[in-house]
Amino acid sequence: KQEGRPLRQRQRLLVVANRLPVSAVRRGEDSWSLDISAGGLVSALLGVKEFEARWIGWAGVNVPDEIGQKALTKALAEKRCIPVFLDEEIVHQYYNGYCNNILWPLFHYLGLPQEDRLATTRSFQSQFAAYKKANQMFADVVNEHYLEGDVVWCHDYHLMFLPKCLKDYNSKMKVGWFLHTPFPSSEIHRTLPSRSELLRSVLAADLVGFHTYDYARHFVSACTRILGLEGTPEGVEDQGRLTRVAAFPIGIDSERFIRALEVPQVQEHIRELKERFAGRKVMLGVDRLDMIKGIPQKILAFEKFLEENPTWRDKVVLLQIAVPTRTDVPEYQKLTSQVHEIVGRINGRFGTLTAVPIHHLDRSLDFHALCALYAVTDVALVTSLRDGMNLVSYEFVACQDAKKGVLILSEFAGAAQSLGAGAILVNPWNITEVANSIAQALNMASEEREKRHKHNFIHVTTHTAQEWAETFVSELNDTVVEAQIRTRQ
Ligand code: G6P
Repeated sequence: KQEGRPLRQRQRLLVVANRLPVSAVRRGEDSWSLDISAGGLVSALLGVKEFEARWIGWAGVNVPDEIGQKALTKALAEKRCIPVFLDEEIVHQYYNGYCNNILWPLFHYLGLPQEDRLATTRSFQSQFAAYKKANQMFADVVNEHYLEGDVVWCHDYHLMFLPKCLKDYNSKMKVGWFLHTPFPSSEIHRTLPSRSELLRSVLAADLVGFHTYDYARHFVSACTRILGLEGTPEGVEDQGRLTRVAAFPIGIDSERFIRALEVPQVQEHIRELKERFAGRKVMLGVDRLDMIKGIPQKILAFEKFLEENPTWRDKVVLLQIAVPTRTDVPEYQKLTSQVHEIVGRINGRFGTLTAVPIHHLDRSLDFHALCALYAVTDVALVTSLRDGMNLVSYEFVACQDAKKGVLILSEFAGAAQSLGAGAILVNPWNITEVANSIAQALNMASEEREKRHKHNFIHVTTHTAQEWAETFVSELNDTVVEAQIRTRQ
Protein backbone atom coordinates (compact mmCIF):
# COMPACT_ATOMS: atom_id res chain seq x y z
CA LYS A 1 0.00 0.00 0.00
CA GLN A 2 2.65 2.46 1.05
CA GLU A 3 5.35 1.00 -1.22
CA GLY A 4 7.92 3.47 -2.35
CA ARG A 5 7.00 5.89 0.43
CA PRO A 6 10.24 6.86 2.23
CA LEU A 7 10.41 5.98 5.89
CA ARG A 8 9.39 9.13 7.65
CA GLN A 9 6.66 10.17 9.98
CA ARG A 10 3.21 8.71 9.31
CA GLN A 11 1.08 10.37 6.68
CA ARG A 12 -1.55 12.66 8.10
CA LEU A 13 -5.18 11.98 7.46
CA LEU A 14 -7.62 14.84 7.91
CA VAL A 15 -11.04 13.37 8.62
CA VAL A 16 -13.78 15.91 8.04
CA ALA A 17 -17.28 15.11 9.30
CA ASN A 18 -20.18 17.29 10.36
CA ARG A 19 -19.91 16.05 13.93
CA LEU A 20 -16.68 15.59 15.88
CA PRO A 21 -16.44 12.28 17.75
CA VAL A 22 -16.79 14.06 21.09
CA SER A 23 -19.54 15.51 23.16
CA ALA A 24 -18.53 18.81 24.72
CA VAL A 25 -20.09 20.21 27.88
CA ARG A 26 -19.21 23.69 29.09
CA ARG A 27 -18.14 23.76 32.74
CA GLY A 28 -17.22 27.42 33.05
CA GLU A 29 -16.27 30.47 31.01
CA ASP A 30 -13.07 28.85 29.78
CA SER A 31 -13.45 25.22 30.75
CA TRP A 32 -14.95 22.29 28.94
CA SER A 33 -15.36 18.62 29.64
CA LEU A 34 -15.12 16.30 26.68
CA ASP A 35 -16.42 12.84 26.25
CA ILE A 36 -15.02 10.88 23.31
CA SER A 37 -17.65 8.82 21.57
CA ALA A 38 -16.29 5.46 20.52
CA GLY A 39 -18.51 5.14 17.45
CA GLY A 40 -17.67 3.15 14.33
CA LEU A 41 -15.68 5.82 12.55
CA VAL A 42 -13.46 6.55 15.55
CA SER A 43 -12.50 2.95 16.18
CA ALA A 44 -12.07 2.37 12.46
CA LEU A 45 -9.56 5.16 12.23
CA LEU A 46 -7.73 4.23 15.41
CA GLY A 47 -7.07 0.92 13.68
CA VAL A 48 -5.36 2.54 10.70
CA LYS A 49 -1.86 2.55 12.04
CA GLU A 50 -0.09 3.92 8.99
CA PHE A 51 -1.94 7.23 9.19
CA GLU A 52 -2.11 9.82 11.87
CA ALA A 53 -5.74 10.95 11.93
CA ARG A 54 -6.97 14.41 12.87
CA TRP A 55 -10.64 15.27 13.02
CA ILE A 56 -12.28 18.42 11.79
CA GLY A 57 -15.94 19.04 12.56
CA TRP A 58 -18.67 20.73 14.55
CA ALA A 59 -18.63 20.07 18.30
CA GLY A 60 -22.45 20.05 18.42
CA VAL A 61 -22.65 23.13 20.71
CA ASN A 62 -23.15 26.80 20.13
CA VAL A 63 -20.14 28.77 21.39
CA PRO A 64 -20.79 32.44 20.62
CA ASP A 65 -17.93 33.94 22.64
CA GLU A 66 -14.23 34.05 21.84
CA ILE A 67 -13.11 32.89 25.29
CA GLY A 68 -15.27 29.80 25.03
CA GLN A 69 -14.10 29.07 21.48
CA LYS A 70 -10.43 29.38 22.42
CA ALA A 71 -10.82 27.13 25.45
CA LEU A 72 -12.74 24.52 23.48
CA THR A 73 -10.19 24.59 20.63
CA LYS A 74 -7.43 23.99 23.16
CA ALA A 75 -9.24 21.15 24.91
CA LEU A 76 -10.10 19.50 21.59
CA ALA A 77 -6.51 19.74 20.34
CA GLU A 78 -5.50 17.21 22.99
CA LYS A 79 -7.91 14.75 21.37
CA ARG A 80 -6.59 15.57 17.87
CA CYS A 81 -9.86 17.33 17.08
CA ILE A 82 -10.26 20.70 15.40
CA PRO A 83 -13.60 22.52 15.76
CA VAL A 84 -15.64 24.31 13.13
CA PHE A 85 -17.83 26.86 14.94
CA LEU A 86 -21.31 27.18 13.51
CA ASP A 87 -23.70 29.78 14.88
CA GLU A 88 -27.31 29.02 15.76
CA GLU A 89 -28.75 30.39 12.55
CA ILE A 90 -26.41 28.34 10.36
CA VAL A 91 -27.13 25.22 12.40
CA HIS A 92 -30.83 25.85 11.96
CA GLN A 93 -30.67 26.35 8.19
CA TYR A 94 -27.83 23.99 7.32
CA TYR A 95 -28.10 21.11 9.83
CA ASN A 96 -31.80 21.06 10.80
CA GLY A 97 -32.89 22.41 7.43
CA TYR A 98 -30.97 21.38 4.34
CA CYS A 99 -29.20 18.32 5.82
CA ASN A 100 -31.90 16.74 7.92
CA ASN A 101 -35.13 18.03 6.46
CA ILE A 102 -34.16 17.81 2.79
CA LEU A 103 -31.18 15.58 1.95
CA TRP A 104 -31.67 12.96 4.66
CA PRO A 105 -35.31 12.10 3.81
CA LEU A 106 -34.65 12.35 0.08
CA PHE A 107 -31.67 9.99 0.19
CA HIS A 108 -33.84 7.52 2.13
CA TYR A 109 -36.63 7.64 -0.47
CA LEU A 110 -39.00 9.68 1.70
CA GLY A 111 -39.13 12.50 -0.84
CA LEU A 112 -38.80 16.24 -0.44
CA PRO A 113 -40.87 17.99 2.24
CA GLN A 114 -44.25 19.21 1.04
CA GLU A 115 -43.77 22.93 1.62
CA ASP A 116 -40.57 22.91 -0.39
CA ARG A 117 -42.18 20.87 -3.10
CA LEU A 118 -44.93 23.43 -3.53
CA ALA A 119 -43.00 26.60 -3.89
CA THR A 120 -39.37 25.67 -3.64
CA THR A 121 -38.68 29.02 -2.74
CA ARG A 122 -37.16 31.03 -0.10
CA SER A 123 -36.85 28.42 2.55
CA PHE A 124 -35.26 25.94 0.17
CA GLN A 125 -32.97 28.55 -1.29
CA SER A 126 -31.88 30.01 2.00
CA GLN A 127 -31.25 26.54 3.37
CA PHE A 128 -29.13 25.65 0.37
CA ALA A 129 -27.23 28.91 0.70
CA ALA A 130 -26.57 28.09 4.37
CA TYR A 131 -25.46 24.59 3.38
CA LYS A 132 -22.91 25.99 0.97
CA LYS A 133 -21.79 28.57 3.49
CA ALA A 134 -21.32 25.91 6.18
CA ASN A 135 -19.38 23.68 3.76
CA GLN A 136 -17.16 26.65 2.95
CA MET A 137 -16.54 27.16 6.67
CA PHE A 138 -15.40 23.53 6.96
CA ALA A 139 -13.16 24.06 3.92
CA ASP A 140 -11.61 27.15 5.51
CA VAL A 141 -10.65 25.16 8.60
CA VAL A 142 -9.29 22.26 6.52
CA ASN A 143 -7.26 24.65 4.42
CA GLU A 144 -5.83 26.31 7.51
CA HIS A 145 -4.57 22.97 8.87
CA TYR A 146 -3.64 21.23 5.63
CA LEU A 147 0.02 20.38 5.03
CA GLU A 148 1.35 19.15 1.72
CA GLY A 149 1.10 15.36 1.53
CA ASP A 150 -1.97 15.11 3.80
CA VAL A 151 -4.99 13.18 2.59
CA VAL A 152 -8.41 14.62 3.28
CA TRP A 153 -11.37 12.31 3.85
CA CYS A 154 -14.78 14.04 3.83
CA HIS A 155 -17.79 12.27 5.26
CA ASP A 156 -21.45 12.13 4.54
CA TYR A 157 -24.34 14.09 3.09
CA HIS A 158 -23.62 17.15 5.22
CA LEU A 159 -20.48 17.83 3.22
CA MET A 160 -21.30 17.24 -0.44
CA PHE A 161 -20.15 20.71 -1.33
CA LEU A 162 -16.82 20.33 0.45
CA PRO A 163 -14.74 18.48 -2.19
CA LYS A 164 -15.27 21.38 -4.61
CA CYS A 165 -14.43 24.03 -1.99
CA LEU A 166 -11.23 22.16 -1.14
CA LYS A 167 -10.12 21.73 -4.74
CA ASP A 168 -10.83 25.41 -5.36
CA TYR A 169 -8.35 26.15 -2.61
CA ASN A 170 -5.74 23.70 -3.77
CA SER A 171 -6.14 21.42 -6.77
CA LYS A 172 -3.30 19.20 -5.54
CA MET A 173 -5.08 18.28 -2.33
CA LYS A 174 -5.97 14.59 -2.29
CA VAL A 175 -9.66 14.47 -1.43
CA GLY A 176 -11.94 11.51 -0.77
CA TRP A 177 -15.66 11.62 0.01
CA PHE A 178 -17.67 8.82 1.57
CA LEU A 179 -21.46 8.68 1.90
CA HIS A 180 -22.84 6.90 4.97
CA THR A 181 -26.44 6.95 3.74
CA PRO A 182 -27.91 5.29 0.66
CA PHE A 183 -27.48 7.19 -2.58
CA PRO A 184 -30.97 6.98 -4.08
CA SER A 185 -32.01 6.05 -7.57
CA SER A 186 -31.25 8.86 -10.03
CA GLU A 187 -35.03 9.28 -10.48
CA ILE A 188 -35.25 10.33 -6.83
CA HIS A 189 -32.11 12.44 -6.88
CA ARG A 190 -33.28 14.39 -9.89
CA THR A 191 -36.21 15.87 -7.93
CA LEU A 192 -33.73 17.87 -5.86
CA PRO A 193 -33.58 21.49 -7.08
CA SER A 194 -29.81 21.67 -6.47
CA ARG A 195 -29.18 18.23 -8.00
CA SER A 196 -26.50 19.21 -10.55
CA GLU A 197 -24.52 21.52 -8.35
CA LEU A 198 -24.22 18.90 -5.63
CA LEU A 199 -23.17 16.16 -8.05
CA ARG A 200 -20.53 18.38 -9.60
CA SER A 201 -19.14 19.31 -6.20
CA VAL A 202 -18.83 15.67 -5.16
CA LEU A 203 -17.15 14.86 -8.47
CA ALA A 204 -14.38 17.28 -7.59
CA ALA A 205 -13.13 14.57 -5.17
CA ASP A 206 -10.55 12.03 -6.34
CA LEU A 207 -12.31 9.04 -4.80
CA VAL A 208 -16.02 8.73 -3.99
CA GLY A 209 -17.16 5.81 -1.84
CA PHE A 210 -20.48 4.18 -0.90
CA HIS A 211 -21.48 1.27 1.31
CA THR A 212 -22.88 -0.84 -1.51
CA TYR A 213 -22.41 -1.38 -5.19
CA ASP A 214 -26.04 -0.31 -5.79
CA TYR A 215 -25.51 3.12 -4.22
CA ALA A 216 -22.36 3.61 -6.33
CA ARG A 217 -24.30 2.60 -9.43
CA HIS A 218 -27.13 5.07 -8.62
CA PHE A 219 -24.57 7.84 -8.21
CA VAL A 220 -22.93 7.08 -11.54
CA SER A 221 -26.37 6.97 -13.23
CA ALA A 222 -27.25 10.34 -11.71
CA CYS A 223 -24.03 11.78 -13.15
CA THR A 224 -24.66 10.33 -16.59
CA ARG A 225 -28.38 11.18 -16.75
CA ILE A 226 -28.40 14.52 -15.01
CA LEU A 227 -24.99 15.88 -15.98
CA GLY A 228 -24.60 14.01 -19.26
CA LEU A 229 -21.16 12.73 -18.24
CA GLU A 230 -19.64 9.40 -19.07
CA GLY A 231 -19.84 6.51 -16.62
CA THR A 232 -16.98 4.00 -16.84
CA PRO A 233 -16.32 0.82 -14.80
CA GLU A 234 -13.87 2.94 -12.78
CA GLY A 235 -16.16 5.86 -12.05
CA VAL A 236 -17.24 9.04 -13.81
CA GLU A 237 -15.26 10.83 -16.46
CA ASP A 238 -15.52 14.52 -17.28
CA GLN A 239 -13.34 15.90 -20.05
CA GLY A 240 -10.57 13.40 -19.44
CA ARG A 241 -10.64 13.71 -15.64
CA LEU A 242 -11.72 10.57 -13.80
CA THR A 243 -13.42 10.57 -10.42
CA ARG A 244 -13.08 7.08 -9.08
CA VAL A 245 -16.37 5.71 -7.68
CA ALA A 246 -16.50 2.44 -5.73
CA ALA A 247 -18.19 0.49 -2.93
CA PHE A 248 -16.48 0.18 0.45
CA PRO A 249 -18.86 -1.58 2.88
CA ILE A 250 -18.18 -0.44 6.44
CA GLY A 251 -17.88 -2.85 9.40
CA ILE A 252 -17.51 -2.61 13.19
CA ASP A 253 -14.69 -3.14 15.66
CA SER A 254 -16.06 -6.61 16.44
CA GLU A 255 -13.27 -7.40 18.94
CA ARG A 256 -14.38 -4.52 21.13
CA PHE A 257 -17.85 -6.07 21.48
CA ILE A 258 -16.58 -9.61 21.95
CA ARG A 259 -14.13 -8.48 24.64
CA ALA A 260 -16.84 -6.47 26.42
CA LEU A 261 -18.83 -9.65 27.04
CA GLU A 262 -15.99 -10.86 29.29
CA VAL A 263 -16.12 -7.80 31.52
CA PRO A 264 -17.47 -8.79 34.98
CA GLN A 265 -19.87 -5.85 35.06
CA VAL A 266 -21.37 -6.97 31.71
CA GLN A 267 -21.64 -10.57 32.88
CA GLU A 268 -23.43 -9.40 36.00
CA HIS A 269 -25.79 -7.37 33.87
CA ILE A 270 -26.44 -10.38 31.62
CA ARG A 271 -27.38 -12.45 34.72
CA GLU A 272 -29.78 -9.74 35.88
CA LEU A 273 -31.46 -9.49 32.49
CA LYS A 274 -31.83 -13.25 32.23
CA GLU A 275 -33.48 -13.31 35.63
CA ARG A 276 -35.69 -10.37 34.84
CA PHE A 277 -37.01 -11.93 31.62
CA ALA A 278 -36.94 -15.59 32.70
CA GLY A 279 -39.54 -17.65 30.87
CA ARG A 280 -39.89 -15.07 28.09
CA LYS A 281 -38.10 -14.75 24.77
CA VAL A 282 -36.43 -11.39 24.34
CA MET A 283 -36.85 -9.44 21.12
CA LEU A 284 -34.77 -6.30 20.67
CA GLY A 285 -34.82 -3.14 18.58
CA VAL A 286 -32.08 -0.49 18.89
CA ASP A 287 -32.53 2.56 16.70
CA ARG A 288 -32.16 6.31 16.62
CA LEU A 289 -35.72 7.64 16.78
CA ASP A 290 -35.74 8.40 13.07
CA MET A 291 -38.41 7.97 10.37
CA ILE A 292 -36.06 5.81 8.31
CA LYS A 293 -35.79 3.22 11.06
CA GLY A 294 -39.41 2.06 10.60
CA ILE A 295 -40.15 1.91 14.35
CA PRO A 296 -43.97 2.35 14.06
CA GLN A 297 -44.14 -0.34 11.35
CA LYS A 298 -42.03 -2.68 13.48
CA ILE A 299 -44.24 -2.23 16.52
CA LEU A 300 -47.38 -2.74 14.45
CA ALA A 301 -45.90 -5.98 13.11
CA PHE A 302 -45.24 -7.10 16.68
CA GLU A 303 -48.85 -6.30 17.52
CA LYS A 304 -50.04 -8.39 14.59
CA PHE A 305 -47.83 -11.25 15.75
CA LEU A 306 -49.38 -11.10 19.26
CA GLU A 307 -52.84 -10.90 17.76
CA GLU A 308 -52.32 -14.00 15.64
CA ASN A 309 -50.30 -16.02 18.15
CA PRO A 310 -52.14 -15.79 21.48
CA THR A 311 -50.03 -18.55 23.05
CA TRP A 312 -46.94 -16.35 22.75
CA ARG A 313 -48.52 -13.36 24.51
CA ASP A 314 -47.02 -13.99 27.93
CA LYS A 315 -43.86 -15.64 26.61
CA VAL A 316 -42.25 -12.83 24.65
CA VAL A 317 -41.21 -9.24 25.27
CA LEU A 318 -40.05 -6.56 22.85
CA LEU A 319 -37.41 -4.15 24.17
CA GLN A 320 -37.23 -1.10 21.96
CA ILE A 321 -34.41 1.36 22.59
CA ALA A 322 -35.20 4.54 20.65
CA VAL A 323 -32.42 7.10 20.97
CA PRO A 324 -33.70 10.69 20.54
CA THR A 325 -32.06 12.49 17.65
CA ARG A 326 -32.41 15.79 15.72
CA THR A 327 -35.10 16.85 18.14
CA ASP A 328 -35.37 20.35 16.66
CA VAL A 329 -36.69 19.00 13.36
CA PRO A 330 -40.54 18.89 13.42
CA GLU A 331 -40.75 15.50 11.63
CA TYR A 332 -38.77 13.91 14.44
CA GLN A 333 -41.01 15.48 17.08
CA LYS A 334 -44.10 14.09 15.36
CA LEU A 335 -42.52 10.64 15.22
CA THR A 336 -41.86 10.59 18.97
CA SER A 337 -45.51 11.15 19.81
CA GLN A 338 -46.64 8.68 17.17
CA VAL A 339 -44.43 5.92 18.59
CA HIS A 340 -45.53 6.66 22.18
CA GLU A 341 -49.15 6.45 21.15
CA ILE A 342 -48.78 3.08 19.41
CA VAL A 343 -46.73 1.57 22.26
CA GLY A 344 -49.29 2.78 24.82
CA ARG A 345 -52.16 1.33 22.85
CA ILE A 346 -50.53 -2.08 22.41
CA ASN A 347 -49.42 -2.32 26.03
CA GLY A 348 -52.96 -1.40 27.08
CA ARG A 349 -54.34 -4.07 24.79
CA PHE A 350 -52.02 -6.99 25.63
CA GLY A 351 -50.50 -6.03 28.98
CA THR A 352 -51.44 -7.59 32.30
CA LEU A 353 -51.16 -6.25 35.83
CA THR A 354 -47.68 -7.75 36.07
CA ALA A 355 -46.21 -7.50 32.57
CA VAL A 356 -46.32 -5.46 29.37
CA PRO A 357 -45.32 -6.77 25.94
CA ILE A 358 -43.29 -3.70 24.91
CA HIS A 359 -40.63 -1.94 26.96
CA HIS A 360 -39.88 1.29 25.16
CA LEU A 361 -36.95 3.48 26.21
CA ASP A 362 -36.46 6.96 24.81
CA ARG A 363 -32.76 7.12 25.57
CA SER A 364 -29.40 5.61 24.76
CA LEU A 365 -27.70 2.93 26.82
CA ASP A 366 -24.05 2.90 27.76
CA PHE A 367 -21.79 0.56 25.83
CA HIS A 368 -21.68 -2.19 28.45
CA ALA A 369 -25.44 -2.20 29.05
CA LEU A 370 -25.97 -2.41 25.31
CA CYS A 371 -23.60 -5.38 24.93
CA ALA A 372 -25.42 -7.22 27.74
CA LEU A 373 -28.73 -6.58 26.04
CA TYR A 374 -27.46 -7.83 22.69
CA ALA A 375 -26.13 -10.96 24.39
CA VAL A 376 -29.46 -11.96 26.01
CA THR A 377 -31.57 -11.25 22.93
CA ASP A 378 -33.30 -14.13 21.13
CA VAL A 379 -34.47 -12.16 18.10
CA ALA A 380 -33.19 -8.77 16.89
CA LEU A 381 -35.49 -6.67 14.73
CA VAL A 382 -33.67 -4.33 12.35
CA THR A 383 -36.47 -3.20 10.08
CA SER A 384 -35.36 0.14 8.65
CA LEU A 385 -37.37 1.47 5.74
CA ARG A 386 -34.02 2.44 4.23
CA ASP A 387 -30.61 2.47 5.83
CA GLY A 388 -27.13 3.14 4.46
CA MET A 389 -25.67 0.09 6.20
CA ASN A 390 -27.04 -0.36 9.75
CA LEU A 391 -24.37 -1.41 12.18
CA VAL A 392 -26.78 -2.43 14.95
CA SER A 393 -27.22 -5.66 13.00
CA TYR A 394 -23.42 -6.16 13.06
CA GLU A 395 -23.17 -5.37 16.78
CA PHE A 396 -25.93 -7.85 17.60
CA VAL A 397 -24.20 -10.62 15.64
CA ALA A 398 -20.85 -9.89 17.34
CA CYS A 399 -22.46 -10.38 20.78
CA GLN A 400 -24.34 -13.57 19.91
CA ASP A 401 -21.70 -16.24 19.68
CA ALA A 402 -23.04 -17.97 22.79
CA LYS A 403 -26.76 -17.61 22.16
CA LYS A 404 -26.98 -17.74 18.38
CA GLY A 405 -30.14 -15.68 18.17
CA VAL A 406 -31.95 -14.74 14.99
CA LEU A 407 -31.60 -11.49 13.08
CA ILE A 408 -34.66 -10.17 11.24
CA LEU A 409 -33.27 -7.65 8.79
CA SER A 410 -34.80 -5.20 6.35
CA GLU A 411 -33.93 -5.86 2.73
CA PHE A 412 -33.60 -2.07 2.41
CA ALA A 413 -30.64 -1.82 4.79
CA GLY A 414 -27.18 -1.94 3.21
CA ALA A 415 -26.37 -4.74 5.69
CA ALA A 416 -28.83 -7.02 3.84
CA GLN A 417 -26.18 -7.40 1.15
CA SER A 418 -23.65 -8.81 3.61
CA LEU A 419 -25.78 -10.50 6.31
CA GLY A 420 -28.63 -11.55 4.03
CA ALA A 421 -27.70 -15.23 3.96
CA GLY A 422 -27.75 -15.52 7.75
CA ALA A 423 -30.68 -13.22 8.55
CA ILE A 424 -34.38 -13.50 7.80
CA LEU A 425 -34.82 -10.75 5.23
CA VAL A 426 -38.08 -8.80 5.27
CA ASN A 427 -39.83 -5.98 3.50
CA PRO A 428 -40.47 -3.67 6.50
CA TRP A 429 -43.51 -2.11 4.83
CA ASN A 430 -45.21 -5.50 4.79
CA ILE A 431 -46.53 -5.82 8.34
CA THR A 432 -47.87 -9.34 7.75
CA GLU A 433 -44.54 -10.54 6.42
CA VAL A 434 -42.67 -9.11 9.42
CA ALA A 435 -45.22 -10.64 11.82
CA ASN A 436 -44.73 -14.04 10.15
CA SER A 437 -40.96 -13.66 10.35
CA ILE A 438 -41.22 -13.05 14.08
CA ALA A 439 -43.06 -16.37 14.40
CA GLN A 440 -40.48 -18.09 12.18
CA ALA A 441 -37.59 -16.66 14.23
CA LEU A 442 -39.09 -17.62 17.60
CA ASN A 443 -39.78 -21.16 16.41
CA MET A 444 -36.50 -21.72 14.57
CA ALA A 445 -34.65 -24.96 15.34
CA SER A 446 -31.26 -24.57 16.98
CA GLU A 447 -29.30 -26.17 14.08
CA GLU A 448 -30.68 -23.61 11.67
CA ARG A 449 -29.99 -20.77 14.08
CA GLU A 450 -26.40 -21.96 14.46
CA LYS A 451 -25.88 -22.22 10.73
CA ARG A 452 -27.28 -18.73 10.11
CA HIS A 453 -25.36 -17.19 12.99
CA LYS A 454 -22.07 -18.75 11.86
CA HIS A 455 -22.40 -17.20 8.43
CA ASN A 456 -22.98 -13.74 9.86
CA PHE A 457 -20.42 -14.02 12.65
CA ILE A 458 -17.65 -14.86 10.17
CA HIS A 459 -18.63 -11.87 8.07
CA VAL A 460 -18.80 -9.41 10.98
CA THR A 461 -15.48 -10.52 12.47
CA THR A 462 -13.58 -10.46 9.18
CA HIS A 463 -15.00 -7.35 7.48
CA THR A 464 -14.13 -4.90 10.20
CA ALA A 465 -14.19 -1.14 10.46
CA GLN A 466 -10.39 -1.05 10.43
CA GLU A 467 -10.27 -2.97 7.19
CA TRP A 468 -12.85 -0.60 5.70
CA ALA A 469 -10.89 2.51 6.61
CA GLU A 470 -7.58 1.05 5.48
CA THR A 471 -8.98 0.06 2.11
CA PHE A 472 -10.57 3.45 1.46
CA VAL A 473 -7.56 5.48 2.52
CA SER A 474 -5.04 3.38 0.66
CA GLU A 475 -7.16 3.57 -2.49
CA LEU A 476 -7.44 7.29 -2.06
CA ASN A 477 -3.70 7.45 -1.68
CA ASP A 478 -3.28 5.50 -4.89
CA THR A 479 -5.41 7.88 -6.96
CA VAL A 480 -3.47 10.38 -8.97
CA VAL A 481 -4.83 13.86 -8.67
CA GLU A 482 -5.52 15.83 -11.79
CA ALA A 483 -2.97 18.51 -11.03
CA GLN A 484 -0.26 15.84 -10.77
CA ILE A 485 -1.23 14.29 -14.10
CA ARG A 486 -0.92 17.70 -15.71
CA THR A 487 2.55 18.25 -14.21
CA ARG A 488 3.77 14.90 -15.46
CA GLN A 489 2.60 15.45 -19.01
C1 G6P B 1 -26.29 8.96 10.55
C2 G6P B 1 -25.41 9.84 9.69
C3 G6P B 1 -24.24 10.39 10.50
C4 G6P B 1 -24.77 11.08 11.74
C5 G6P B 1 -25.61 10.11 12.56
C6 G6P B 1 -26.21 10.75 13.81
O1 G6P B 1 -25.63 7.79 10.88
O2 G6P B 1 -24.97 9.12 8.56
O3 G6P B 1 -23.49 11.30 9.72
O4 G6P B 1 -23.71 11.61 12.51
O5 G6P B 1 -26.67 9.64 11.74
O6 G6P B 1 -26.97 11.88 13.47
P1 G6P B 1 -26.67 13.35 14.01
O7 G6P B 1 -27.56 14.23 13.21
O8 G6P B 1 -27.01 13.31 15.45
O9 G6P B 1 -25.20 13.63 13.79
